[in-house]
Amino acid sequence: MPADTFVTRLNEQIGNEFSAHQQYVAIAVHYDAETLPQLARFFYRQALEERDHAMMMVQYLIDADAEVAIPGVAAPQGAFGDIVAPVTLALEQEKRVTAQINGLAALAREAGDYTSEQFMQWFIKEQVEEVATMSDLLRVVERSKDDPMEIENFMAREHPGGEGEDPTAPHPAGA
Ligand SMILES: [Fe+2]
Ligand SMILES: [Fe+2]
Repeated sequence: MPADTFVTRLNEQIGNEFSAHQQYVAIAVHYDAETLPQLARFFYRQALEERDHAMMMVQYLIDADAEVAIPGVAAPQGAFGDIVAPVTLALEQEKRVTAQINGLAALAREAGDYTSEQFMQWFIKEQVEEVATMSDLLRVVERSKDDPMEIENFMAREHPGGEGEDPTAPHPAGA
């Protein structure tokens, strides 16, 4: 059985991942309404990844015979002043999640729950990638904020989608 403190915090993290999902859907819808389909597509896809993160955590708790309590989430921000603001928010969110994930790994280790610590390793690696991707995107949108088509071309070129499955990823519940 995972440590009780870890189970409590992982259930909270399921809420944080669903919250990230909702925020990315709201950002995608915003860009879609602004007719920026490549940015929209990128954030719809990011949203699905966050949903999968939540469901990987659900599967871990089920496999460990621990209690799963799906939390509610607060409404995301849906209105933005310019093309840069959603990406700034996304980068802040990824940095916040990185701190949460590292905190979960530290908590598992302190509790002597090395199985849960190992479960968190994939998320630590994933957060490095997500922060790097969002930092790069912020640089691009800041540089080209007066030329949205330049940003759209960048997204089509650099983030075409279909990156393929990560065979090392934990299994999401229901998938
Ligand atoms: Fe996530
Ligand atoms: Fe993320």
